[in-house]
Amino acid sequence: MAFNGSPRKKKWNTVTLLNNALKGAESAGAKTELLQLYDLNYSGCISCFSCKKIDRKEDGVCAVQDDLTAVLNRVKEADALIIGSPVYYGTETAATRAFLERLCFPYLKYAKNMQSLFPKRINTAMIYTMGVTEEMLKQTGFSQVFATTRMMLGMHFGACELLLSKDTLQYSDYGKFESEMFDKEAKYKRHAEVFPKDCKRAFELGVRMASGEVPEPEQIPGFEY
Ligand SMILES: Cc1cc2nc3c(=O)[nH]c(=O)nc-3n(C[C@H](O)[C@H](O)[C@H](O)COP(=O)(O)O)c2cc1C
Repeated sequence: MAFNGSPRKKKWNTVTLLNNALKGAESAGAKTELLQLYDLNYSGCISCFSCKKIDRKEDGVCAVQDDLTAVLNRVKEADALIIGSPVYYGTETAATRAFLERLCFPYLKYAKNMQSLFPKRINTAMIYTMGVTEEMLKQTGFSQVFATTRMMLGMHFGACELLLSKDTLQYSDYGKFESEMFDKEAKYKRHAEVFPKDCKRAFELGVRMASGEVPEPEQIPGFEY
């Protein structure tokens, strides 16, 4: 199951990488589905703690009833989860954050060693796209954000791979929008030369997600982030 956390649903950076990842998974025999988070009406966790009640009937159930309810039910059957998000103000988009809260919290057992109640170990991946250049990324604290989400998914579901696509194209025509701060020729060039390589990396990630093997953290590409 893949989730697009970008409001640009059709042909932009995040969804293109997700589609490549799904093509990779399909090439390895997986049945795939892509959900557009911006088509759904839902909130983040409302802190009702129904999922933490001692006398709850079932583990891993979020009591909030909205468009995510059916989606979260289907996650129980998934063999891999791939979540794509643009970076907005140094973190995932609001829709992605709300989704992550609802996805993870019902499976968190407040035991001494913070166990996961998700009944199996599955592969997970976060695909991030962002406008910053490679150089600028090093000066930001974004990597810590990626590492935290990666740890969170790893803890609840299973090994989480990270794919970062940097210095992305934001507009198809930089002449039509405010863009003084960008080197637009460099943007077009990178989109033509580097983005296709990111798509290839996404395809390969999809193949790995569908392999059925859940690697140990130190064997996962992107572990160093
Ligand atoms: C509201 C907003 C905030 C953004 N904040 C950041 C940011 O903090 N860092 C960054 O590198 N890019 C930022 N960007 C750029 C996007 O992350 C980048 O263009 C991304 O590839 C968009 O993904 P999409 O093409 O799938 O929509 C921002 C874009 C928007 C619209």
